[in-house]
Amino acid sequence: MTRPCHDTPWKNRFAARTQRMTSSIIRELLKLTEQHDIISFAGGLPAPETFPVTEMEVAAQRVLEQHGAAALQYSPTEGYRPLRELVARHMRRYGIKVTPDHVLITTGSQQALDLIGKLLINPGDRILTEEPTYLGALQAFTSYQAEYVTVPIDDDGLQIDRLEEALRVGPKFLYILPNFQNPSGVTLSLERRRRLVELANTYGTPIVEDDPYGQLRYEGEHLPPLVKLDAEFHRSSKGENGFTGNVLYLSTLSKTLAPGLRVGWIVAPQEEISRLVQMKQGADLHTSTFTQVLAYETARGGFLDRHVRDIRKVYGERRGAMLEALERHFPPQVHWTRPQGGLFLWVRLPRGFDAAQLLEQALQEKVAFVPGTSFFPAGGGEETLRLNFSYCTPKVIEEGIRRLGLVVKRFLGANR
Ligand SMILES: Cc1ncc(COP(=O)(O)O)c(C=O)c1O
Repeated sequence: MTRPCHDTPWKNRFAARTQRMTSSIIRELLKLTEQHDIISFAGGLPAPETFPVTEMEVAAQRVLEQHGAAALQYSPTEGYRPLRELVARHMRRYGIKVTPDHVLITTGSQQALDLIGKLLINPGDRILTEEPTYLGALQAFTSYQAEYVTVPIDDDGLQIDRLEEALRVGPKFLYILPNFQNPSGVTLSLERRRRLVELANTYGTPIVEDDPYGQLRYEGEHLPPLVKLDAEFHRSSKGENGFTGNVLYLSTLSKTLAPGLRVGWIVAPQEEISRLVQMKQGADLHTSTFTQVLAYETARGGFLDRHVRDIRKVYGERRGAMLEALERHFPPQVHWTRPQGGLFLWVRLPRGFDAAQLLEQALQEKVAFVPGTSFFPAGGGEETLRLNFSYCTPKVIEEGIRRLGLVVKRFLGANR
């Protein structure tokens, strides 16, 4: 018997775990940004003008001249040693003693999330997350059939007085973004960080700290990462901040150098690094040797620090432009966060209004954002939406928010 031509032999053979996996609404929306007349606040794209193209061109030339054959060869799964050393040095700036052997280079921190899922999650395991949380983490963990326990956030991050109840459920680990959270832009206060580390230790729950935006602070004081506070909590008798391993720390070059490089990392105890290496071997053997060497050759010698200072200036201005435009064009019933860094802010419509419906109308006015529901692992968040402020120039931000403000006012008026 022949199959109808639209059917494939694979369709009925997809693994059961794929049933809950859906494609990201953000990826779908990103396709819209390719239409030139849409002003998109939807993606999480860094500003392409900030990419250090010239410096990379020079570095690429150097890589090929000085390391040509090695950079084009297979390489250790753990990653390019000088790059691992650079990451370890960076961690030591926070006062945490880690060595390059605690660092695994990954293909973006998205792969780090997937490898952590592959290593730790059994079907039905519960993962504790903020609500809302990073969609990419949900996609990675859901593919290993995770379930979720969530704690809501407010302007100071995860609501700490709700944490204990969630920890009692016995989650496998706590996944958290303490700095300028994606999607909401909020930052976990120092007091809450300390309490969170204390509670996680009391309940024996390990923490996955995802920190792609920590360096992109535009106002206020840098706050210590959880990995450091955990070290302080367990300060050794010698008075040193040793790396305890209770917190797996993730970061990336995507927001500070260029996302197309796909270079991120996990900082973990050596035993977990060896297991993660096994997971990674099955995924991609290793992150591209060439891009690792290129990233290192570009970043070294203080360039990355200087470059991050330039990026902060650009994004700080864009954040300011968006906040001012929101004040000017949005009606008073609508609330939004005032992030001190990162790439996003979070808007809350009055209760009962649906941001997905608002998006349909916004697209007619050629402006896009992401409705908040996809960031809620347990459902809800219909009245929320995420706006990205890193990608558009201040002038475009003003025009986009003006258009969106008109749509919002019409929408709230019509649905009153
Ligand atoms: C919180 C968070 N984690 C991880 C990632 C993935 O970043 P990468 O480009 O390093 O894979 C992102 C990207 O937007 C993110 O916002």
